Amino acid sequence: MTRKLVIGNWKMNPRSLKQAQDLFQKHAHTVKKLTKTQVVLCPSYVHVAKCASLKGAPRLNVGAQDVFFEPEGSFTGEVSVNMLKDVGVTHVILGHSERRARGETSDIVQRKVYAVVSRGLTAVVCIGEEARDASGAYYDELHDQIASSLEGVEVKQFKRIIVAYEPVWAIGASADEAMDGDRMHEMGIFIRKVITDTWGRTAADAVRILYGGSVDDTNIEDIIERGHIDGVLVGRASRDVKVFGRMCEIADNLS
Ligand code: PGA
Repeated sequence: MTRKLVIGNWKMNPRSLKQAQDLFQKHAHTVKKLTKTQVVLCPSYVHVAKCASLKGAPRLNVGAQDVFFEPEGSFTGEVSVNMLKDVGVTHVILGHSERRARGETSDIVQRKVYAVVSRGLTAVVCIGEEARDASGAYYDELHDQIASSLEGVEVKQFKRIIVAYEPVWAIGASADEAMDGDRMHEMGIFIRKVITDTWGRTAADAVRILYGGSVDDTNIEDIIERGHIDGVLVGRASRDVKVFGRMCEIADNLS
């Protein structure tokens, strides 16, 4: 059994810095009780530095929801990898479907992934099809997303790559509509096969695979255990102290 990973993406929530601090500290209290599972909380840019400065827990890391690929310069509104690293961020979510829907291409995602892993942080690279069709054309879409988003990553850098498979149709839905563990197992095999074909077995063995899309305390066990994956990327449920706490405990028992 490998150590499980639970990542919480708070998206554009909560409304105030105080609420973000409260949420972070309540989650930290839960994480202190975990013995194996690693938890990463990803607040918004304006809250990330403060959260990273709070006393957390040994297994609690702070992640960002995006980054810009250039190291420094005249890029109004952007934030660099070094800025995130400086305030204690260790993980960066990249290519989330909510960003891809607003124009973020795999080419942009690739430049960000490369910037993140080259500077020693971990990239949480989101992929996922919009919809499924009977002919299985979505496999081509996923293949392209994986191959182009990870282009240029060296084999030795795959230990800092986490692929989060998030089918767009399952995000923001209900746990009943989420993917089940058996189907996730097939997707995990597919993702590793695509990586093996381009980068070889060493890279495919090093990469970690998560599922995201309507995971809560009712389906996390099935998705991790039967899905044979490393953990989950959680949206809404990561803002609910009780539900997220139970999810972390379940993951810990599976680790
Ligand atoms: P959800 O979001 O858990 O609210 O479905 C998942 C995500 O967008 O990463």
